[in-house]
Amino acid sequence: MLEVQKLTIRTKDNDRVLVRDSSFSLGAGETLCLIGESGSGKTLTGKALLGMLPAGLRMSGELSFGGDAMTRYGKREWSRVRGRRIGVIYQHPEQALHPAIPIGRQLSDLLRSHLPVTRHAAEVSARTMLDKVSLKDADRMMKSYPFQLSGGMNQRVMIAMALLLQPELLIADEPTSALDVTTQSEIVALLQGLVAEEQLSMLFITHDLLLAGELADTIAVMKQGEIVEQGTAGEVLRRPKHAYTKQLLNCRSSFRFAPEEGAHLYVGNQ
Ligand SMILES: Nc1ncnc2c1ncn2[C@@H]1O[C@H](COP(=O)(O)OP(=O)(O)OP(=O)(O)O)[C@@H](O)[C@H]1O
Ligand SMILES: [Mg+2]
Repeated sequence: MLEVQKLTIRTKDNDRVLVRDSSFSLGAGETLCLIGESGSGKTLTGKALLGMLPAGLRMSGELSFGGDAMTRYGKREWSRVRGRRIGVIYQHPEQALHPAIPIGRQLSDLLRSHLPVTRHAAEVSARTMLDKVSLKDADRMMKSYPFQLSGGMNQRVMIAMALLLQPELLIADEPTSALDVTTQSEIVALLQGLVAEEQLSMLFITHDLLLAGELADTIAVMKQGEIVEQGTAGEVLRRPKHAYTKQLLNCRSSFRFAPEEGAHLYVGNQ
């Protein structure tokens, strides 16, 4: 499905290497979690796979998607693939959704920009999709603007948009890190269900190793632009080899227990 070989991303002006010799692959229906500290190159890797690297950067290496060499894609090929065969979800849906167009219009316009369907048929598909991401009251949703919805609801709309054109691959860049913990697990469960139902491949970018453990078939750990460890989720989480992965695991478990300790302290002081 997706094969990335020796992906290297540099700045054009001073040749600073931001991602170095990154190689990984993703099979049909599989989820790969790309995990690492802030600034390690996760988002840039995702952008390279969408043909959306910022203008000041250049890349080398081989990217192949469904047997096609993406590295040879021109503007036209990218516009056929991006959004259509590869869906994308970002951390902040409000940056991707148009603030002044109702949700229903945004969904049906997206569909009509790729497929020769009538406005009515596009609206029917939009409603079906809103239903799939468990946004109740489709009539109200279709007419709503993003600012009228909560963060979790907007993230559901983003997921609906990403899946509307039935892509084969979904790139999700920290889609839950701006949400509160309860909404976060609802969105993760929703994604998990949809990915299984549609047999999608997913590249899930996160800095949360435990979340990666819930979702991933395979995990690749990035540090300072390089993949330092990768393997099945079980291997990486149970028998981490790299010191950085071990450190990530330790951080995550102490973070997890901290609120409970804090709660005890508070009760003790009363
Ligand atoms: N347009 C750009 N020009 C120059 N450097 C950039 C550009 N975009 C990103 N970088 C640099 O590339 C590195 C990797 O950035 P990237 O956004 O991929 O990190 P990340 O792993 O997604 O981090 P986070 O977890 O904070 O989202 C960072 O050092 C960043 O400053
Ligand atoms: Mg990022």
